[in-house]
Amino acid sequence: MNLEKGFLEKKIDPSLDLFKEISHLKKTKNAIILAHYYQDADIQDIADYIGDSLGLAQQAEKTQADIILFAGVHFMAETAKILNPKTKVLIPDLKAGCSLADSCPPNEFNAFKATHPDHIVLTYINCTADIKALSDVIVTSTNAVQIVESFPKDQKIIFTPDKNLGAYINKVTGRNMVLWNGSCMVHEIFSLEKLIKLKAQHPKALILAHPECEAAILEYADFIGSTTAILNYSKKSEAQEFIVLTETGIIHQMQKASPSKTFIPAPPNNSCACNDCPHMKLNTLEKIYIALKYEQPELLMSDELIEKSKKPINKMLELSAKFGL
Ligand code: 13P
Ligand code: SF4
Repeated sequence: MNLEKGFLEKKIDPSLDLFKEISHLKKTKNAIILAHYYQDADIQDIADYIGDSLGLAQQAEKTQADIILFAGVHFMAETAKILNPKTKVLIPDLKAGCSLADSCPPNEFNAFKATHPDHIVLTYINCTADIKALSDVIVTSTNAVQIVESFPKDQKIIFTPDKNLGAYINKVTGRNMVLWNGSCMVHEIFSLEKLIKLKAQHPKALILAHPECEAAILEYADFIGSTTAILNYSKKSEAQEFIVLTETGIIHQMQKASPSKTFIPAPPNNSCACNDCPHMKLNTLEKIYIALKYEQPELLMSDELIEKSKKPINKMLELSAKFGL
């Protein structure tokens, strides 16, 4: 069965109520949909759980479902499979990758690691399973600072793949982690000049930023945190207006939680919608319907890679539970 050349090109009957069809498929197949905040609003609305990378990994590990439909990108679906290998993991579009994960090729990273033999490797979850297998502990933007601080001050650390998140952690913790030179295409696109102008037009707006943004942008932020942290901050804050420096998908949940507040997506440094992640946005309701119906494309991994990459993820989950995250 060739999904690329067959089903995806086949027209789905436009009269189909995809919400109804997907709900029916979920029930009959004991499937759940896990969706990241960067998914389109309609995908978030049909999901059983919407969350950040840590929350999604925790849900994937504990689900009793027979099928996980992962509405996110490849490394997230891979993490779900690693944590719950007996469950069938479907991904609506296998091409949904990640520029940050791509910025850390395993061969090059392994050679880099070899030049720092006395360092441990802390790795942002936004990487391939091969990179996870070369790591000591995985972190997400929710737990990175606490995990770094759980190591002695003199512990030598390599942090990969995001240099912006790494620099932010170094600043907050006073560490001097060696940083791999990777970055996210979405979070590097924000224009400082346009942000300053926007803030001048909305002086009461608070600036909320994801730590994948560059240091010069983070300097201007009133709050820096993971997607979940940004969402929670916007719910609790007394402010009525917010400028949001992360992928635009998160605004759907912010607006749902606080309908009277105004959320302004921060402007990219060009005129396109580059603060939409092109990988996340490959997923559609149509592709989810097809994936659930035909149980393809399925995320498959070797047992050996699952075994090797599971250890550092489990360490992260243990530490997160210890910190109450
Ligand atoms: P979190 O949702 O974990 O903050 O990660 C953001 C991101 O870029 C995911 O690709
Ligand atoms: Fe990767 Fe950035 Fe897209 Fe997240 S937003 S999936 S880090 S490219």
